Amino acid sequence: MPCIFGTLSPLRFIVLFRDPSPAEWDATTEMDEQNRPIHMFQVCNVMEPNQNNWLRSNWIQRQAAQKVFVELRFTLRDCNSIPWVSGTCKETFNLFYLETEQPHPANTRFLPADYAKVDTIAADESFTQTDLGDRILRLNTEVREVGPVTRRGFYLAFQDVGACIALVSVKVFYKRCPSTLRNLAAFPDTVPRVDSSSLVEVRGACVENAEERDTPKLYCGADGDWLVPLGHCVCSPGHEETGAVCQACKPGFYKAFAGNTKCSKCPPHSSSHDQAGTICHCDKGFYRAAKDPSSIACTHSPSAPRNLICLINETALFLTWSPPSDSGGRKDLTYNVLCHRCAGTSNGEEVCEPCETDLRFIPRPLGINQTSVAILDYAKNANYTFFVEAVNGVSDLGQVLRPLANITVATDQAGPSLVGVVRKDWASDNSIALSWLEVEPQPNAILDYDIKYYEKEQEQLSYSSTRTKNPNVIVTGLKPATVYVFHLRSRTAAGFTTYSNKFEFSTGDENSGMAADQGQVLVVVTAAVGGFSLLIIVTLFFLITGRCQGYIKAKIKSEDKRRGPFQNVVSIPGIKTYVDPDTYEDSTQAVHEFTKEIDPSRICIERVIGAGEFGEVCGGRLRTGGQRDTPVAIKTLKGGYVERQRKDFLREASIMGQFDNPNVIRLEGVVTKSRPVMIVVEYMENGSLDSFLRKHDGQFTVLQLVGMLRAIASGMTYLSDMGYVHRDLAARNILVNEALVCKVSDFGLSRVLEDDPDAAYTTTGGKIPIRWTAPEAIAYRKFSSASDAWSYGIVMWEVMSYGERPYWEMSNQDVILSIEEGYRLPAPMGCPVALHQLMLHCWQKERGQRPYFNDVVSFLDKLTRNPGSLLTLVEHMHSFPESPVDMPDYPLFISIGDWLDSIKMSQYKNNFLAAGFTTLDSVSAMTLEDIRRIGVSLIGHQRRIVSSIQTLRLQLLSGQHNGFHV
Ligand code: ADE
Repeated sequence: MPCIFGTLSPLRFIVLFRDPSPAEWDATTEMDEQNRPIHMFQVCNVMEPNQNNWLRSNWIQRQAAQKVFVELRFTLRDCNSIPWVSGTCKETFNLFYLETEQPHPANTRFLPADYAKVDTIAADESFTQTDLGDRILRLNTEVREVGPVTRRGFYLAFQDVGACIALVSVKVFYKRCPSTLRNLAAFPDTVPRVDSSSLVEVRGACVENAEERDTPKLYCGADGDWLVPLGHCVCSPGHEETGAVCQACKPGFYKAFAGNTKCSKCPPHSSSHDQAGTICHCDKGFYRAAKDPSSIACTHSPSAPRNLICLINETALFLTWSPPSDSGGRKDLTYNVLCHRCAGTSNGEEVCEPCETDLRFIPRPLGINQTSVAILDYAKNANYTFFVEAVNGVSDLGQVLRPLANITVATDQAGPSLVGVVRKDWASDNSIALSWLEVEPQPNAILDYDIKYYEKEQEQLSYSSTRTKNPNVIVTGLKPATVYVFHLRSRTAAGFTTYSNKFEFSTGDENSGMAADQGQVLVVVTAAVGGFSLLIIVTLFFLITGRCQGYIKAKIKSEDKRRGPFQNVVSIPGIKTYVDPDTYEDSTQAVHEFTKEIDPSRICIERVIGAGEFGEVCGGRLRTGGQRDTPVAIKTLKGGYVERQRKDFLREASIMGQFDNPNVIRLEGVVTKSRPVMIVVEYMENGSLDSFLRKHDGQFTVLQLVGMLRAIASGMTYLSDMGYVHRDLAARNILVNEALVCKVSDFGLSRVLEDDPDAAYTTTGGKIPIRWTAPEAIAYRKFSSASDAWSYGIVMWEVMSYGERPYWEMSNQDVILSIEEGYRLPAPMGCPVALHQLMLHCWQKERGQRPYFNDVVSFLDKLTRNPGSLLTLVEHMHSFPESPVDMPDYPLFISIGDWLDSIKMSQYKNNFLAAGFTTLDSVSAMTLEDIRRIGVSLIGHQRRIVSSIQTLRLQLLSGQHNGFHV
């Protein structure tokens, strides 16, 4: 922007000559249109020749100017407009200048020769013609460059040579680049160079509260324009750019770093009270970890882990839990497991001490990233309390007392082994027969024995185990000429004993045949005669005489044939310990024998929790005299029953009363001597497993689900060992307690089926829960532990699909037909391959090939010990059965609408159609992502649709389906 000199030193003019007299420049004042006075200098000596009239300015200080500009505004009459002036009249005037260091003294004579001529000035236009033909005098503006000027000041002079001029204004100025703010830097007033081709480089200074990034620079051009901005400044922390300055952040806002960013609002749970905040301080009770950036919310330590449960097997304790409900707002959760072992009381106080160092934790006790830990080397017969705490990056900054989940575990071992010397009775190339004596006296009756064995060479890398009720066993499936290590323990009502010493025995080699040691067998017989059943004696008799050798081999072979992959041991069948109450002539006798009569005054009914076939099911408490009340569920028999109903009602109690296992619902007792008749059982806070899972869809870890499955399999091991066949094993008949422990319930054989809404009549007239029942049980009522194993596979599927209905909406008839044709339920979404394979194993058509429940337990334990094995999931969208014989016979749908109706997902018809999924081909190619994208957001619905699409694909592959019609 140009700067005008006149503002600093006002111009004044001096009339210098009258030559020839009387012509000269006259200072006059006239009024403009708005009646404002205009001062001007005029001269108009057009009639006289040889005019030379001079007008000179005062001395003008040069200041910083190197080149000066003079702007003249004037009128100039053309000579034609003045009559009689030809020859003397002129239409130009001249501009001169003179540089000096000082103004001339007042009396200095004016010497035109000292002045340098700048230019001859002519008017662009003298007159303008109006529409009416009048001529109007026009104002001209002319600008001339003067210089370069170098002295301290100069004079300007105008020479009139006979024109008619009015000089209205003279502006004298030089150009400069004015001070400016650019890129948060201030640049000073700068005068350009005279040489118009070179620029002046100017460095800027950062404005207040800004700091330099690259040196800020501008270049001042000859015309007074700033050019080529380089470098910049940025606002310092706590300040933001507003206009061209850096302003302080307001309270509640902050800026941590210098830069072009704006102040940010304080993240959640933090605040800044002053201006120019560079950080927001955490509110009380909230913290930032050392490595947390200041931009994230302040956080707090997590709440306690939830649903802490403990599974225990022979060698390890498994603690699993769910993440805390409040993670404190952080993702860096880890868990610490602490341990207390309490060894009795002293002065009435429990004596407990830390025990982490005595135990082995896998992966480790502290800083665990997953929600489970395996604990080894625990002492038998001890009480441990485990505390699990969730910690995050700010736990150390927060409260001193952290919330903990805890669980107390009794390792419940029933003392020493109770097993004496173990002998080898005989060995073949792949089996060894062992027997042993029980230690006398026995503190508790031995329920059965657990035999653990492994190849000596393998150093216990992997081991197998088997159970037997008798003090002898034949272990089969062994390698020829191999030394095996055996150790045994017994199980009493108090739990397992410790293991016996180790005994080493080898199998025979392939050529030697069976190497029976008849002397040893005799010892066994002698020891057994007193205490064992006739069956055993007869069997052993046959063994001794050798007459049975062929029979035993044949039996082993047929048992081998029905072995699953986990099964490599055959025990001699045990004595059936479950007694069918129907075998009692008088059913009250069975009730009397197997149940405890409870005084109704001990029962406090609090609420109704459901309705059973015989009457209400209530929740309440059982007073136990002294100790805390036991929460119980109370099944009532409603009034007006007939004797048959009473018998059926109490039948379940007579069965349940025979069981004592942590994974089988416990009978507390019955009320039969007063009304109403009641069955009192332990209370299971979370109700039935199917509805519990539906309610908590997707909320458990695979390990927790496996924990539930293990508990069910463990309960079923117990029941099948007792010789009890459930016949209605289904998630609806499993109850879940507060600690998420699952227990098998609903006993009563024919009665449960009457009661079960899922049981349907078969063609032979029986009532059967078709979807859960093995084909041979449906076809010819062949119920067995193997058919229970089939049902267990269905329960696994229900668990892994969070309570989905097996075979969805297929009719019972279609289920039967598709099973017959080889179709099996596909893996639920997110199901580990290993678990689906176990399901398929349970669904072997040949019942002899299904796994035993104890094998299922061992298998699930192995998976739990090696959680990596659960990471491989079945990829739903790509898993097809290998051959068309595996294809389902599934209803054929004629439109997308029909299909969605059939799986009760009609509400998504428009979503499918709007997204262009209108043909079978397009639907069958859909991925889970597609299903989510079209708006199916509920995980249960996604799962149902995915599973059904999978079935549709199978049909498409097998050519059963021709496509949809929209
Ligand atoms: N519903 C049926 N039996 C139950 C039990 N034992 N606990 C809780 N709810 C039940």
